[in-house]
Amino acid sequence: MAANGAKGLSVYEAIHRRRMAWKFEDRPVPASTIDTMLDAAIWAPNHRLTEPWRFFVLDQDSPVRRVAAEMARQTVLDRGGDERRADAGRDKILDAPCLMYVYCVPGQDEAATRENYAAVCCAIQNMALAGVSEGVAVTWETGGITRAEGIPELLGADPAWDLVTILFIGYPDEHPLSRRTPVTQFVQWHKREDPAVVS
Ligand SMILES: Cc1cc2nc3c(=O)[nH]c(=O)nc-3n(C[C@H](O)[C@H](O)[C@H](O)COP(=O)(O)O)c2cc1C
Repeated sequence: MAANGAKGLSVYEAIHRRRMAWKFEDRPVPASTIDTMLDAAIWAPNHRLTEPWRFFVLDQDSPVRRVAAEMARQTVLDRGGDERRADAGRDKILDAPCLMYVYCVPGQDEAATRENYAAVCCAIQNMALAGVSEGVAVTWETGGITRAEGIPELLGADPAWDLVTILFIGYPDEHPLSRRTPVTQFVQWHKREDPAVVS
């Protein structure tokens, strides 16, 4: 991915170029770039316009980030992890140039909650595709460190909200290869010209 982005890409190019990355250049992503990506996020489809997404953006050197990192470290220890794993969990939180906690507001019932969760995932993908345009990678983290105790209170999130993921956001310093199975493996297409189905 070009370091200074690739504005003017087609939707298809952005979809295919988007890659998650775990190593980032040591430079911040400007707030204006994050704002642009968030604006793309909120144009995701959402049933009944519930706008169920909530975003918490943590600058790299913010005090909140440092506390969140210590909470992640403690969580690993509390769950039986050793010091090495705990430090690795803390460093993951500290190292990303921009860190974002993304929550979903539950709906009135289970079906609405599922719809809201789907909408938040669409929003994150919009953000990731906008990131391609900006030369920025957006990487999901849903492991144990995302469920550190005290995080909602630290951020000011409603405890009733569901944490969907943490996002690591930055200019990638690696370009991982990826792969997908050909789509024909996953599609059953009932064609117009098929013989009539006899009931
Ligand atoms: C819902 C979801 C959760 C994920 N959780 C993690 C995670 O906890 N840790 C991690 O390293 N990658 C995580 N990933 C990243 C995926 O493993 C990633 O999509 C995969 O490496 C393929 O990368 P690509 O989409 O760039 O091809 C997650 C992705 C998704 C969509």
